Amino acid sequence: MCGIVGYVGNSSRKEAGHSALDVVVEGLRRLEYRGYDSAGVAVVADGSISSRKKSGKLSNLIAELEADPVPESLTGIGHTRWATHGGPTDQNAHPHLSDGGRLAVIHNGIIENFAELKQELLAKGVVFASETDTEVAAALIGDIFRTEFDGDGANLTQAMRLACQRLEGAFTLLAVHADQPDVVVAARRNSPLVVGLGDGENFLGSDVSGFIDYTRRAVELGQDQIVTITAESVDITDFFGKPAEGKEYHVDWDPASAEKGGFSSFMEKEIHDQPDAVAQTLLGRSDLDGKLTLDEVRIDPELLKQVNKIIVLACGTAAYAGLVAKYAIENWCRIPTEVELAHEFRYRDPIVDSNTLVVSISQSGETMDTLMAVRYAREQGAKTISICNTNGSTIPRESDAVLYTHAGPEIAVASTKAFLAQITAAYLLGLYLAQLRGNIFSGQIKDVLADLSKIPAKIQHILDGAGPLRELARSMKDEKSVLFLGRHVGYPVALEGALKLKEIAYIHAEGFAAGELKHGPIALIDDGQPVFVVVPSPRGRDSLHSKVVSNIQEVRARGARTLVIAEEGDESVKDYAEHVFYVPETPTLLMPLLTTVPLQIFAAELAGAKGYDVDQPRNLAKSVTVE
Ligand code: AGP
Repeated sequence: MCGIVGYVGNSSRKEAGHSALDVVVEGLRRLEYRGYDSAGVAVVADGSISSRKKSGKLSNLIAELEADPVPESLTGIGHTRWATHGGPTDQNAHPHLSDGGRLAVIHNGIIENFAELKQELLAKGVVFASETDTEVAAALIGDIFRTEFDGDGANLTQAMRLACQRLEGAFTLLAVHADQPDVVVAARRNSPLVVGLGDGENFLGSDVSGFIDYTRRAVELGQDQIVTITAESVDITDFFGKPAEGKEYHVDWDPASAEKGGFSSFMEKEIHDQPDAVAQTLLGRSDLDGKLTLDEVRIDPELLKQVNKIIVLACGTAAYAGLVAKYAIENWCRIPTEVELAHEFRYRDPIVDSNTLVVSISQSGETMDTLMAVRYAREQGAKTISICNTNGSTIPRESDAVLYTHAGPEIAVASTKAFLAQITAAYLLGLYLAQLRGNIFSGQIKDVLADLSKIPAKIQHILDGAGPLRELARSMKDEKSVLFLGRHVGYPVALEGALKLKEIAYIHAEGFAAGELKHGPIALIDDGQPVFVVVPSPRGRDSLHSKVVSNIQEVRARGARTLVIAEEGDESVKDYAEHVFYVPETPTLLMPLLTTVPLQIFAAELAGAKGYDVDQPRNLAKSVTVE
């Protein structure tokens, strides 16, 4: 997600070399790990705001600042943007200005109601320079600052409070105003914000990395809170001005681990980001009546109604997300859905025409195999939708429509949170198509969305209870081979669990459709062979569950070590399982969002026990940009 830094110092600190620009740029450098596609700063000096912003890497911004310096200042904000609304351009980069260029705002998150606010402000004559939701927030704060207070005793804090009372969605906002040169005001709802307490200076950061070089005294801002910092004071209230207390803590991470949020690796951090990745991908895409509004899916609904075949194109983990999508889309939409490995697709002379909808899935949006397959499908007349995690990347740019996942940048090579976000986005697309074509009633869509809204908390429950699984993983670090079985949507989960172990622990691992066992793979079962089995809900289609329990018995009878992932309350597996790891109850189609998590944790823990670099495994790249 975006990187945010704020600073206010006093003149004596300036002698110590802590100019606002230096502190802010250093903080943005520390936050680069979060991934971004543009950067910008604003400082308050000589009665005005000076702002510079550039797309691309921080080095582009630094070059801009060298070519066109800003004045010395003791008050400043800085931002690295991970594009969501609007591509990664100079114009869309933060800060965004308003109130005649006297107010600068930076933002992390998604303003859900920015469209209606924008209409209201346009009617007031506000002119917008970008397509971002952030600029709407900046214009709202500026409008309130100017009209509510008419410049007398203008109060940036009060303007921020009143604006936040109107904003919906997830946001961390920082603002500075030329009329109040010694103040930075910030607001927090859902997206993180931390205050750094200094001596004669104070800091703000999206995480402690933003100021860890200057202070280790921190205060985490709470939900729906406003903080006003000066060089000598930190004042916290709620959105209505009621004072609030922030609890101070000492940051004992070193800068490197601070970038990983205190986790041992980016992969661990991203596994723990998954509740938020699913929640952010769901955010703002349906209303309380269960009506889906996928704004970015700009394909004529009449054309989507004529679709008679769907082909999912992807590679690796993304392809396994596609396999999960197949079960859901066919169940809800009754449209034949094929899942193709992109690198195989265009060499098999596939049957594609204008009634084919091609859905590509890609975290990076740059995988060459997938890009070339999408190009081929478009040449054959197919409509194309990209499910992608990287705003403005090549595959969505070359697709007719895009449905962005909002997992935030995924740094570790082994995909985790992007996988769950891809599945979530695929569910939304399937429900959207079903809603469009009238396959299922809005009541059923509402029920599925209600079930999906409970998933983040269920993932968190699994993460919190992973101790025994981690212990088992460490005890198995010398295993040479692990098999994974699953049926229905458990089958792609088995494939993904095997891939994780291969990718980062370099152990032979293979996923099978559980029903395939007796057609050959069962010959692999030897005494002590570890076998993970992903068990469907006992409340689902009855034959599915009992068949998989039989599969556990079959491998157990031949000496396998049976490691079972099952739904809480499912006692039927206990007699045949050496270990059972339970996940909270959820409808069968949604289970991959839960059953995958223990397999990710197992792989990460085992690879860590072997002393491997789980973030940068050997031979692999995060984005495979060659065919
Ligand atoms: C997954 O852990 C791997 N890193 C790999 O299989 C990856 O999913 C695949 O290369 C596709 O990448 P993409 O999602 O960026 O297209």
